Amino acid sequence: MGAQIRLFWMVLIPSALLHESGAQQLRLVNGWNKCVGRVEVNYEGTWGTVCDDNFDKKNAHVVCRQLDCGEATTVYGWSYFGRGAGPILLDDVNCTGSELYLWDCPHATWLVNDCGHNEDISVVCSGNISLYTM
Ligand SMILES: *[C@@H]1O[C@H](CO)[C@@H](O)[C@H](O)[C@H]1NC(C)=O
Repeated sequence: MGAQIRLFWMVLIPSALLHESGAQQLRLVNGWNKCVGRVEVNYEGTWGTVCDDNFDKKNAHVVCRQLDCGEATTVYGWSYFGRGAGPILLDDVNCTGSELYLWDCPHATWLVNDCGHNEDISVVCSGNISLYTM
């Protein structure tokens, strides 16, 4: 029993730090669960969106894995899950696919973009067990 509890914390704490560390946060909104929707990033306390320019499946995989949502199944440009509000925070994201955080991928300078909210990117992730516990 004691060993099980220790193992629980050994797994839970690093995973919590991994996904919530740093100033930035990530979420998917306006989909049918937390693993589907418009990609939103919190940068310095403000939620904003990500432009669809060159946003490919490798980028989407990073989003999905960062959210414990499995792999990306579909990438939708052109504000498929509705136009976001606030700043367009990231543009020209170009992940190799192995990054832990979306913002670790090469991207234009934060807040610098040539996009409108009609170009907000959305992703559909395969989801995982956490789908059933949210
Ligand atoms: C993305 O990065 C790769 C590898 O560094 C590069 O070859 C490619 O041109 C980049 N794509 C864009 C759209 O910037």
